[in-house]
Amino acid sequence: MGDPRSTQAAYRARLLTFRGDPADDAQAAVYFEDGLLAIDAQGKVAAFGDYAQLRPTLAAETPIHEMRDKLIVPGFIDTHVHYPQTEMIASPASGLLPWLENWTFPAERRFEDEAHAADVARFFIDQLLANGTTTALVYCSVHPQSAEALFAEAEKRDLRMIAGKVLMDRHCPPYLRDTAESAYRDSSALIERWHGRGRQMYALTPRFAPTSTEAQLEACEAIAREHPDIFIQSHLAENHDEVKWVAELFPKSRSYLDVYDRYALLRPRSVYGHCIHLDGEDRSRMAETHAVAAHCPTSNLFLGSGLFDFDAAAATRMRVTLGTDVGGGTSFSMLQTMNEAHKVARMGGHHLSALRMFYLATTGAARALELDDRIGTLAPGSEADFIVLDPAATPLMARRTALADELEALLFAFALLGDDRSIAATYAMGRRVHQR
Ligand code: GUN
Ligand code: ZN
Repeated sequence: MGDPRSTQAAYRARLLTFRGDPADDAQAAVYFEDGLLAIDAQGKVAAFGDYAQLRPTLAAETPIHEMRDKLIVPGFIDTHVHYPQTEMIASPASGLLPWLENWTFPAERRFEDEAHAADVARFFIDQLLANGTTTALVYCSVHPQSAEALFAEAEKRDLRMIAGKVLMDRHCPPYLRDTAESAYRDSSALIERWHGRGRQMYALTPRFAPTSTEAQLEACEAIAREHPDIFIQSHLAENHDEVKWVAELFPKSRSYLDVYDRYALLRPRSVYGHCIHLDGEDRSRMAETHAVAAHCPTSNLFLGSGLFDFDAAAATRMRVTLGTDVGGGTSFSMLQTMNEAHKVARMGGHHLSALRMFYLATTGAARALELDDRIGTLAPGSEADFIVLDPAATPLMARRTALADELEALLFAFALLGDDRSIAATYAMGRRVHQR
């Protein structure tokens, strides 16, 4: 597959990518036991396929990195994460609302300081790369300078990041409050400056319905209408107390989801974190509008929010992705996120295969975000964001994977036992950006 003539570097390893969703198609996985991945001078995939077939097509002097004991997959895509919460990960609370009040808001206050924002942005991106995450959909703090810091760091490393300044003009401490007018002005300026600049993309980010006035939601509607290709991200139906609060604040809305719907915030590239306490009508509406549910299992278990319903999601065919939700989530690792997603699904009597979890964290996320022409696959022409997984990263992993004689068993061991130690290296645009 592809045009190997433009190859600058090549990798010989086990290779896995997807041409479809393993839930629908038994042939969805594209796997080569002895594969070759060729990268061109622009940092795109030049060719991808079976080593024996592709090798003779490469120029004789092309360097080939031998890593036959490793597995190369597309870089992970974390579709819900808060970078200002990096340092307060694992802060105890009795549930979402007290956790926000006692830990999250004070931590986010510090992002008023540009130097602090730049320091945490650098560390946050190091954490993503060490965990094999090459693209993330990131919440910044309410301060526009926090988004500037994140985008500047991502641009410096040529990573495809999607991020936005949080909007909240009520029910939060005065030191974190913006207004409908400043939300409009600051978001518009950030979109102008960053959306489509290099690999950066903007996400309009109203925190969640309770912290925005109707005037601010109207401002969101206007911004979204003016910029049809930006992303939108918010939280939805995460926790019972939150759902009850939304019903009190928006008595005219049929449901929590309906609040966002009334402001035309359900559309392709709109991504809602959690989506636990929805009804059938909500799920059908998500599916119809192509809105995306970002399932964040480590967060949902940690905060006791509830169990995402995989069967109900599948029945409506709504778009589903995975997110870490750090710092409500307890790990930056998408492998650990798969581990917990598998158990959440199991609690609901749903078997989530390892193949499907790897799909959800790569090609599936790219498809849900309508970015699969650029990231999330190893198809020729894609931006070469990929990771090298080490099946023998720990003594236990080495023993377990030595017994794994088929792909599903190997991936299942990575998903259940793996973490940042499993990521031998991370590449973005064909350049190595992390090595363990
Ligand atoms: N709902 C509103 N804000 C947040 C947040 O920062 N984290 C989580 N998990 N839920 C939220
Ligand atoms: Zn969140």
